[in-house]
Amino acid sequence: MNRQMSSPLPHEWKTKDDEFVMRTYSRKPVMFVRGKGMRLWDAAGREYLDFVSGLGSCVTGHCHPRVTKAVKEQSEKLIQVSNLYYTAPQLELSEKLVSRAFPGRVFLCNSGTEACEGAIKLARKHMREAGMPQRREIVAALRSFHGRTMGSLSATGQPEKAEPFAPLLPGFVHVPFNDLDALEAALNERTCAVMLEPVQGEGGVYPADVAYLRGVRELCDRYGVLLILDEVQTGMGRTGSLFAFQLYGTEPDIMTVAKGLASGLPIGALLAKEEVASSFGPGDHGSTFGGGPVPCAAALATLEVLEEEGLVENAARTGARLLEGLRELASRKDVIAEVRGLGLMLALQLKEEVAEDAAAAALDRGLVINNIGRDVLRFLPPLLVGPFEVDALLEGLEAIL
Ligand SMILES: Cc1ncc(COP(=O)(O)O)c(C=O)c1O
Repeated sequence: MNRQMSSPLPHEWKTKDDEFVMRTYSRKPVMFVRGKGMRLWDAAGREYLDFVSGLGSCVTGHCHPRVTKAVKEQSEKLIQVSNLYYTAPQLELSEKLVSRAFPGRVFLCNSGTEACEGAIKLARKHMREAGMPQRREIVAALRSFHGRTMGSLSATGQPEKAEPFAPLLPGFVHVPFNDLDALEAALNERTCAVMLEPVQGEGGVYPADVAYLRGVRELCDRYGVLLILDEVQTGMGRTGSLFAFQLYGTEPDIMTVAKGLASGLPIGALLAKEEVASSFGPGDHGSTFGGGPVPCAAALATLEVLEEEGLVENAARTGARLLEGLRELASRKDVIAEVRGLGLMLALQLKEEVAEDAAAAALDRGLVINNIGRDVLRFLPPLLVGPFEVDALLEGLEAIL
């Protein structure tokens, strides 16, 4: 890896962004043109180690040959026919997801927020079908993130993200995360489901306590409420288990997955146990592109790579090494308040609001890392990250912090 200043964004591209693109993203001044494994290259040919991996989506690394081969072959055969017809990649993927998660059924869509929308619709439809139409309320956590469309945004427990778009959907209640008493107090005869991330990602990387998530399952069973686990960010090996619920020993009734599912191609999935899934009938939900042959072929290749190359085990192993290194760093660096996370979903809580500057300084050194707000640095590398890259990151952080 070069030690270099990151190349400035080529002027003509900055001008186009300024002129033609809606200003929804505050972008870093770099344009990537190529990726391979852990590495990215910018327009000037400079090399970077990527600890963001497309916000957690490139789990098999950039452009894994088996994923690109699957995409190429499928896109030369058949790209789209809609869901009015059968396509083999969708059926194979659904079977594989069910066999690796829990018995039930799958609905395929295009993103994490869509998977969460589907989960909310399915939970409400299920209660109606079960003769409890008064159960409409979804209890979610403060600081949670479930997406940007109106239903998912209503579930998201970050009022500042939702407030400009009010009125949101009615029927959402938010309680503090990792607080069983607060959750129990919010459950009543109107509650439909509890919706949680096993590790809150966008909120700052806060893992659920094991006792909390198991307690949530017990409360849901006691009160006759569905448990929705949003594994959009934690799923596909990120936490060192294919799905985080397996690590916690807490099975949901409905689970959402996206991000890493197809190694960076747009896809989302909603999985539900049979008795819940069967509440959706023809016409209840749908998508033109959802479960299309190309992203499904990429997802099948992703599962193969994760399993055959032992990447989930590597996420646990290398995640532990990175966690240890970050803790060691924290013991020497006063600016670090806390180290949090699970597997390869890790973060440094900083005492000062310097996360943005630190991420910019890292980029200058050829390290792509992510800041959440002003005081959290997040690390979501591809699951093939090894000791060499971990050491390079720790060395870089040592210098920057
Ligand atoms: C837990 C969780 N749910 C939902 C979403 C929304 O996913 P998408 O950006 O694919 O719509 C995200 C995205 O960060 C997420 O982390």
